[in-house]
Amino acid sequence: MNEKTQRKWDSAAKLYDLTGGFGPEKRWQPHKQRLFSGMYGKVLFLAAGTGLDFASFPPGQDITAIDISAGMLEKAKPRAATYQGELQLRQMDVHKMDFQTASFDQIYTSCTFCSVPDPVAGLQALRRVLKPGGRLGMFEHTGSRTFPFGLMLNVMNPLCRHLGPEINRDTEANVEAAGFAIEKITNVYLDVVKTIEARAPSDEQT
Ligand SMILES: C[S@@+](CC[C@H](N)C(=O)[O-])C[C@H]1O[C@@H](n2cnc3c(N)ncnc32)[C@H](O)[C@@H]1O
Repeated sequence: MNEKTQRKWDSAAKLYDLTGGFGPEKRWQPHKQRLFSGMYGKVLFLAAGTGLDFASFPPGQDITAIDISAGMLEKAKPRAATYQGELQLRQMDVHKMDFQTASFDQIYTSCTFCSVPDPVAGLQALRRVLKPGGRLGMFEHTGSRTFPFGLMLNVMNPLCRHLGPEINRDTEANVEAAGFAIEKITNVYLDVVKTIEARAPSDEQT
């Protein structure tokens, strides 16, 4: 477990719902609901955080939600308890998951690959536990190719990284570098907040 990352997010957990909770979550919820509506089979969700995403999950699913931070998971517990389906919480670093290879039909992420320390290695770790041909659905914020937003995100990134997420990552490029094929990108706010739908190579392709 990466202790530095764990400590950073344990500390962020205390005020997380105040900063990221109410306004932004309300705004993003319809887009998350659309993305998560395709859930089926055994689903891995990364990262649970304080459980704000759980209200956007369709009922009746079999979901394992992981997070590196015990502080985040403690806050997520009561939200998980109200989910109408199977929702298991596990403290786990994406870089060191103990799941067997190809154990999940689908994987979803939400504002996660701004935070995972080594995004390409983290995405490769997801590929290992996803079945061949399985779906990766991501709700993420990234850097921007639009002036002046890209520049602003680059300037603000060192401070943001210190407190929590990185805000200028090229997550689409990271997804492809990890060996997924991107099928669809939907911009939700400018080219910064978006959903990315991708697929792991099928057996014949690996
Ligand atoms: C910006 S928060 C997003 C949480 C939640 N999905 C949401 O949208 O409210 C990023 C989360 O990623 C988790 N995280 C960061 N690095 C991780 C890692 N290596 N493995 C698992 N979780 C990690 C943090 O603990 C934190 O809860």
